Amino acid sequence: MSEKTTAEKPATAQATKATLQYDGKSYDLPVHVGTEGERAIDISKLRTSSGLITLDNGYGNTGACQSSITFIDGERGILRYRGYPIEELAERSTFLEVAYLLIQGELPSKTQLESFTQETTIHTMLHEDFSRFFGSLPKDAHPMPSCAAAVGALATFYQANESDEEVRRSVIRLLAKLPTIAARSYKHSLGQPQIYPSNNLDYCSNFLRMMFAVPCEPYHVDPLVARALDVLMILHADHEQNCSTSTVRMVGSSRANLYASISAGISALWGSLHGGANQEVIEMLEQIAASEGSAEKFLTRAKDKNDTTRLMGFGHRVYKSYDPRAAILKKLCPGILARMGGSSQLLDIAMKLEEIALRDEYFVSRGLYPNVDFYSGVIYKAIGIPVNMFTVMFALGRLPGWIAHWLEMRKDPQFRIGRPRQIYQGATKRTYVAMDQRS
Ligand code: CMC
Repeated sequence: MSEKTTAEKPATAQATKATLQYDGKSYDLPVHVGTEGERAIDISKLRTSSGLITLDNGYGNTGACQSSITFIDGERGILRYRGYPIEELAERSTFLEVAYLLIQGELPSKTQLESFTQETTIHTMLHEDFSRFFGSLPKDAHPMPSCAAAVGALATFYQANESDEEVRRSVIRLLAKLPTIAARSYKHSLGQPQIYPSNNLDYCSNFLRMMFAVPCEPYHVDPLVARALDVLMILHADHEQNCSTSTVRMVGSSRANLYASISAGISALWGSLHGGANQEVIEMLEQIAASEGSAEKFLTRAKDKNDTTRLMGFGHRVYKSYDPRAAILKKLCPGILARMGGSSQLLDIAMKLEEIALRDEYFVSRGLYPNVDFYSGVIYKAIGIPVNMFTVMFALGRLPGWIAHWLEMRKDPQFRIGRPRQIYQGATKRTYVAMDQRS
């Protein structure tokens, strides 16, 4: 039986409309049902018929689009890319295979993967004029804004017009060049010469070499480390309408080009409540280790509403159970630590925090479990990735997801520029007061 025929049957449609009663009037609203049975009331025409808008701070319960890329069931801890469970992809596929799946919609055949890999490999080099670009950045620049700026700058090197062929080439260029940009940002921050890509290496090995090799010295990539990185990137590759992906869609909805949209996504990912959390998790673990403070003491602060401390790497807008990505990473940690010969102190602290939190009423009642960032930093640190590169690693992994969403949005027949409404709560009309009469 072929893989495709194993797909489960889509859920059958249920009620196709909902009725809203307001101010003595009744409004029929269409209901859309997804293939996994999720239901949404379509309020897109509600304002025209009733003058009402909907209000949903942080878009916690608002569907912004219909998408066929990634399915998450936060209650049951399920994550699937194009129908394939994340556990199977992490175990059996490679990052470039997953990138192809997300972008093209199907797993590649052997020939398709070879040609995709070949194309991605031959575009890894950056234009030499990028030397001046990096040279103009401060030495201590954080690599995240350096990457966001460099990706935006790609649009100045390449004509990012709207034709399908040009977009296809932009997709390949981004996948090929982001690891080079990321490693270059890091080398720049060290004041070391850049290491050019080596196109006889696979995607992750090439990146590791550009990060850690020094000129004129042999560098050996440990296949176990390269594979761990590949798995990490697969786990980060997409997560439906998260903050950075929604940003990519929002920016792209104005018909901004792919480079500009991805650059905006990188900036959105940087924040500590999103991708920046992986850096904050390791800093939190190191802080606990350095102060010889106990996990219990830290959790007391994280629960205190008068203290801004949060248990970083815990909680998620969508998952109200264990994030399946965190479960895979937790299992990966001991093997990597054993191979690298480093201390397991931070992993021990993380596991202790998790153990106590999952027995604590505060975390249990709010459905707060480890998310993908809780264990990823332990692995990054063990394989020598510097802490300020952690969020860049997240961006490298998330790139195919951003691209897939940007492409899906462009082809969506329902496509419209993103433009939310608001409820205005400011001053009502008042008359201008001259400067000398203001109190
Ligand atoms: N530590 C302590 N309390 C928390 C935490 C936490 N990590 N996360 C949520 N809470 C509490 C929060 O104070 C609130 O309590 P109450 O109902 O008493 O006011 C309740 O749980 C609900 O939290 P929320 O902030 O309203 O939930 P949200 O869906 O808006 O935020 C979140 C989700 C991920 C931003 C949040 O859980 C958080 O700040 N976590 C720590 C940062 C983190 O790990 N971020 C990475 C997310 S996963 C990777 C990614 O996709 O970027």
